[in-house]
Amino acid sequence: MTDDRSLLSGTPDPEDLTIEQSLRPRTLEEYIGQTRIVDKLRVFIQAARERREALDHVLLFGPPGLGKTTLANIIAEEMSTSLRTTSGPVLERAGDLAAILTNLEAGQVLFIDEIHRLGPTVEEILYPALEDFALDLVIGQGPAARTMKIELPRFTLVGATTRAGLITAPLRGRFGIVHRLDFYQPEHLAEIVTRSASLLHVGIDDNGAQEIARRSRGTPRIVNRLLRRVRDFAQVEGEGKIDIETARRALELLEVDELGFDEVDRKILTTLIEHYSGGPAGIKAIAAAVGEDHGTLEDLYEPFLIQEGFLQRTNRGRVATPKAYQHLGLTPPSKDANPTLF
Ligand code: ADE
Repeated sequence: MTDDRSLLSGTPDPEDLTIEQSLRPRTLEEYIGQTRIVDKLRVFIQAARERREALDHVLLFGPPGLGKTTLANIIAEEMSTSLRTTSGPVLERAGDLAAILTNLEAGQVLFIDEIHRLGPTVEEILYPALEDFALDLVIGQGPAARTMKIELPRFTLVGATTRAGLITAPLRGRFGIVHRLDFYQPEHLAEIVTRSASLLHVGIDDNGAQEIARRSRGTPRIVNRLLRRVRDFAQVEGEGKIDIETARRALELLEVDELGFDEVDRKILTTLIEHYSGGPAGIKAIAAAVGEDHGTLEDLYEPFLIQEGFLQRTNRGRVATPKAYQHLGLTPPSKDANPTLF
């Protein structure tokens, strides 16, 4: 990791990925937080195992870094099978998906990340595969074309997406278990960072863990990245152990503020306030001013700013709330000046 921005990035670099994987919980027992989905999965997995059936298909929504891939791995582990991983953009042609489906073993778990990016022809072959465990192949062309049905083993699809709104209704309707992952509570993040520190053999006290947790935007991927940066700081500047002082000094150096906002978050809010009088402004205009791709803003930055009440998404564009002004040390305009806002 070379750049502080990648603290937030959804695509970790290879070194990050190896460490991230080593910190991931492998079973539901080890999983901290997201108690609603964990409790549901525990029951559904036990029931499927007792009936010796494949688990129902699972669709997971939510911002990056909240554990969609981790849960897919855990589902495979708990069902005592293996995970086959692919993603929407990789499956360019119907044949790419057909090849994977025909090679699955009975009960196996197939994980399709970014499932909202499947093309329409690929998505269509998925419908009978999910519903009837069958592939409808078209052989030949024109009047001589025939369809052939190929039976598939019973498998479980785990689909993941950051964009709930982009999943088509027929696809969504074919998942038996649909769940939106929420941002984690600070106490769960503190538990996660304590567990990760122990796996990395770094000492951390409760206050140090809470400080890192509080500034991690409700996201385990970020808590684990911040932990590694704070660990470097503790090693070089401190006595190797992470307490509240080391955590605060390190996070200040990383320009992660009290609320876990980084430079890009602050730029989004200042752009809205200074260039657009608080909004409404279109996401593409904001992205151009901030120098980020608009998809990155929508997937990675907006959900947390919206959930924490700093930004509103209206049908005329994004609007900065009074909380955003206050956080940046600015005075919010009066109600009369911007009636859409209050
Ligand atoms: N590491 C990353 N996410 C985790 C979680 N939900 N529980 C435990 N450890 C984690």
